[in-house]
Amino acid sequence: MLTRRSLISTTALVATLPATAAQARDPSVSVGATSPDGVLSVSVSVTGEGRPEYSVSRFGRLVIAPSRLGFLLTDAAKLERNFTITAEAATQHDDTWEQPWGERRFIRNHYTQLRVHLSERSDLERRIDVVFRIYDDGVGFRYEFPDQPNLKTVKIGDELTEFAVADPGTAWWIPAFEWNREEYLYNRTRIDAVGVAQTPLTVRSDDGLHISIHEAALTDYSGMNLRRVEGGRFKAALTPGLSNAAVELATPFTTPWRTLQIADRAGALVESSLILNLNEPNALGDVSWFRPMKYVGIWWEMHLDLKTWNSGPRHGATTDNAIKHIDFAAEHGFGGVLIEGWNVGWDGDWFGTGWNYSFTQAYPDFDIERVAAHARQKGVEIIGHHETGGNGYHYEQQLDAAFAQMQRFGWHSVKTGYVADAGGARVRGPDGQPRLAWHESQPMAQHHLRVVETAARYQVAVNAHEPFKDTGLRRTWPNMISREGARGTEFSAWGQPGNPPEHEPNLVFTRLLAGPMDYTPGIFGMQTRAPDGIATTWAKQLALYVTIYSPIVMAADLLENYDANPGPFQFIKDVVTDWSDTRVLNGEIGDFVTIARKDRNSDQWFLGAMTDEHPRVLDTPLSFLDSGRRYRAEIYRDAPDAHWKTNREAIVIESRDVTSADTLSLHLAPGGGQAIRFVPIGRGRRT
Ligand code: NOJ
Ligand code: CA
Repeated sequence: MLTRRSLISTTALVATLPATAAQARDPSVSVGATSPDGVLSVSVSVTGEGRPEYSVSRFGRLVIAPSRLGFLLTDAAKLERNFTITAEAATQHDDTWEQPWGERRFIRNHYTQLRVHLSERSDLERRIDVVFRIYDDGVGFRYEFPDQPNLKTVKIGDELTEFAVADPGTAWWIPAFEWNREEYLYNRTRIDAVGVAQTPLTVRSDDGLHISIHEAALTDYSGMNLRRVEGGRFKAALTPGLSNAAVELATPFTTPWRTLQIADRAGALVESSLILNLNEPNALGDVSWFRPMKYVGIWWEMHLDLKTWNSGPRHGATTDNAIKHIDFAAEHGFGGVLIEGWNVGWDGDWFGTGWNYSFTQAYPDFDIERVAAHARQKGVEIIGHHETGGNGYHYEQQLDAAFAQMQRFGWHSVKTGYVADAGGARVRGPDGQPRLAWHESQPMAQHHLRVVETAARYQVAVNAHEPFKDTGLRRTWPNMISREGARGTEFSAWGQPGNPPEHEPNLVFTRLLAGPMDYTPGIFGMQTRAPDGIATTWAKQLALYVTIYSPIVMAADLLENYDANPGPFQFIKDVVTDWSDTRVLNGEIGDFVTIARKDRNSDQWFLGAMTDEHPRVLDTPLSFLDSGRRYRAEIYRDAPDAHWKTNREAIVIESRDVTSADTLSLHLAPGGGQAIRFVPIGRGRRT
């Protein structure tokens, strides 16, 4: 029973918490710690009935109000109340590590760690640690289950973790548990109108604070979605497993990190390395056999329905077509050629079944040995393609043979695909038999890791479509290079509807916060099967090479559209795909963004700017350029009358000399963009 005296001291001790929440709390059981530069602080406590909660403040102001921690188990009493809490002294960590490839070369990992012990006051005396890593730009926390007598196997029915966003604002989100997995247009609603959302979920409070909720290091657990409970309070909603438990594990184990990126600028969310930092260091060592690259492919012609994946008179993956693409790639400096539909199994019903696929046997009109020899002679790599129809069970039986074949040919990357409705993926069940599963279930997390680890043994890097969500595993397994996991450009080939102009400025501040995306940009043939065709200008198609990061990037259009348009194609040939630095110069979620990146292998910089359906003028200082240097800015901009609907091809290509002291006014047309290559041309100022 709280006395009047203890009520007063409670309020004083947890001054950042609202009075109503604080009143139920015992002052002796609140622990906390602050990020290295004092920006963010975390407070953890238990309520009077022993329910653990955490909250997050920024400069003393509540960002995440008290939010529950805990679990419901399917075969044991819940882990939810009757806890006492103690904490170890907070520790500091500060080091810098190098990415083998990426959007920046060096990453600083600087945080305060707070380890909180939760001990159950019942006879079971079960224990969980909650470990918080508090950065200046966000917080990660995970549960660690130690080995203990009364908690050996853990069947998690429900995770009770909450994220109670303290202030009202706007949310950008896609629905969870829908048939088309992650391939939805983003909703922009008030926070209190969100339903059940996937992560990353991005919110902006009405006074301008940006928060992205996601997870890191998801290796052996089910994906976390977010169900809004009330107001701005979200609760973890785990993807179902094969039984009534979403997750089954044996102690000791740790959960993935639950992450909160918090920044006053939208661009700072993109610049944050929190997700990568929370992953374990490189487990593969030297992966220099994978080279970031651009690629072309036998791909868009199928999406336009000019060719087919399956065999027959319109088969796309013929020997001749492959050789044509290899020759084009060699002539124009592309590292790879993707060839889809090369292998047996596409005839009949492959969507959501995948039983007929061979990952080694080519169709008779695709002479794989000849294609491989020609590619090798031209210095081009074929990007393997393994569409599984979601059938991970079937794919796993051929993994070694498939990757061994790729290694024999010297092919170092594969695009995988899991085209099946949500809940229609297939995994090996506990009895060894195939079972239907969700794409983001724990068995599929295990499957994707098995694929990546097997691929690594054969020096193959993986770009997964219809994937498991990205949680930064590329730090640990740098052969996990890219993925889809959102609506790619292909939606603008099919229609009903295609991707609208706001889609890409949405992606940068939502899906892309998770990691690289194989968005397949670079389309110049703007009429497609979609009513609006490609809903961007040409200049925006070029800007996508800078704004949407992936170490492996497609020039996705038909080759004849590049042959016919050498002017804008030059930017696609010149742009690089591996960076030493990345700066977000301006941007608002879903509206516009300008990103500058520095080539990892030269002193060139590249800039991409893009907008939604509204025209904009973005005055952009070039202070990111090395000072004391002159550059030739090769500019690809929207013509004054360009428009995503009526005049997409109107582009101006021009050059001018600039230095870091200059400011450029970037004029973006409705649905437009701008792409610039900065080539150093000497020292000293312009005369
Ligand atoms: C869906 C992928 O997103 C697409 O890129 C691919 O062409 C098809 N599946 C066939 O594998
Ligand atoms: Ca897809």
